[in-house]
Amino acid sequence: MLVETKPNTTLYVEGPASVELLEGHGTIFGADFEKGQRIIVPEGKAIAIYSENALKIDAKIGDKGLLQEFEGTTIPPYWDNLVEAIKAKQKELNRAPVVLFIGDVDTGKTTLITYILNKLVKQGLKVGIIDADIGQSDVGPPTTIGYSTATHTVFSLTNLKPERCFFVGTTSPVGLFHRHITGLLKVLEYAKMQDTCAILIDTTGWVHTSFGRELKTIKTLTINPDILVLIEKNSHELDFLEKVLGSIVKKIIKIKAPQRVTRRSREVRRDFRTRHYRRYLVNAEIKDIDMNSIFFGYAYLGNGEDVTNTEIAQIVAEEAKISGISYMELGPDFALIVTKKSIVGLDQKIRRLQEVLENREIKIFPESAFHNILVGLVDDDWNLLGIGILHKIDFTNKKVKIFTHIPQEVIKGILFGSIKVNQDGEELGKIRHWTF
Ligand SMILES: Nc1ncnc2c1ncn2[C@@H]1O[C@H](COP(=O)(O)OP(=O)(O)O)[C@@H](O)[C@H]1O
Ligand SMILES: [Mg+2]
Repeated sequence: MLVETKPNTTLYVEGPASVELLEGHGTIFGADFEKGQRIIVPEGKAIAIYSENALKIDAKIGDKGLLQEFEGTTIPPYWDNLVEAIKAKQKELNRAPVVLFIGDVDTGKTTLITYILNKLVKQGLKVGIIDADIGQSDVGPPTTIGYSTATHTVFSLTNLKPERCFFVGTTSPVGLFHRHITGLLKVLEYAKMQDTCAILIDTTGWVHTSFGRELKTIKTLTINPDILVLIEKNSHELDFLEKVLGSIVKKIIKIKAPQRVTRRSREVRRDFRTRHYRRYLVNAEIKDIDMNSIFFGYAYLGNGEDVTNTEIAQIVAEEAKISGISYMELGPDFALIVTKKSIVGLDQKIRRLQEVLENREIKIFPESAFHNILVGLVDDDWNLLGIGILHKIDFTNKKVKIFTHIPQEVIKGILFGSIKVNQDGEELGKIRHWTF
């Protein structure tokens, strides 16, 4: 469909859609949109094409997509003030200021960061972007905290190439605040060593309830940003951060969320992750990794003593009447028993083994329990090489079979995620941290 816009208007395009500029020159969140360029807008994302002049656009809009024209720009004027405030801070400190963005979901945090990034790189500056929104990661795979140095304008942060990622392994920081914040600090440490004019940190939209308040309070306290940007949907909703941390964080800038913000449902967010998992699983195939040549993180597995063919395993089999044990591992605080098939009467067997194996957490699983666990594949320093999906563990031959595009030689560690995902990138359900 041919769309002709009037001068000084914004064409708002909600995905799924694709647009090509046929005539004129526009900007999308501060980045130039040139004649002949085609952009794909996935479902759950939206772009705003602004131009002072009339534009001719070829637009293909999917069933759930949307096209709307607005007078003027949808970029609030105070977004430009923020760009100036960041540059001023850089001059004052003579180093890249760390800027932390906090706001509820759908308050335009990611779009604002995209806009600032575009404005700065257009001036020939490099910008460090940390994406700590593990549920809706744009930089790096879902469940990770990603870093990228931006040198070119982008229409979306998903176009940035992740340079350094930390695997958290869950789409929500619930129960893993410390892991989430530690990961963020590690990525920030790396970001600070890069040559950039500013480090912009995107975060999850979890700001309410005691958990959200706790997370954002502690995150701000640990990072101690040079500028804290609070984005409010409803006025005063983030006053608590200002009250509590106002004397620690020297510069707090409070702004309103822009009017034109798309709300995304839980399903749309999940579908977004599916596409994202797929993107990081392109060219993946099952790789065989020697169990004894790597370490396992966020798991008991591989961190105890293999007692499969010993007297202990025999006693366990007899005392708790467990047949078909394919693997058994013992640590000071746990016993992990893997059986060929699922077994019945598990609670009773676990109680019996608690007596025999004293004070140990007893974990009994069939081999199939390991299927489809999302894993992070890391080097010796825990830098994420890529994600993978655990296909199975061959306990007889001590081989871990993982669906990934990462070559097995470079994998030094396997970090267990807390979610199951199939090879098509569809989430199958959460699992408790440290299950295995
Ligand atoms: N200033 C704006 N003009 C037009 N659209 C916007 C603007 N800010 C945000 N949006 C749209 O609203 C949606 C949600 O914004 P996003 O930045 O992803 O929010 P958050 O990161 O806070 O969840 C996005 O699809 C984005 O394109
Ligand atoms: Mg976001």
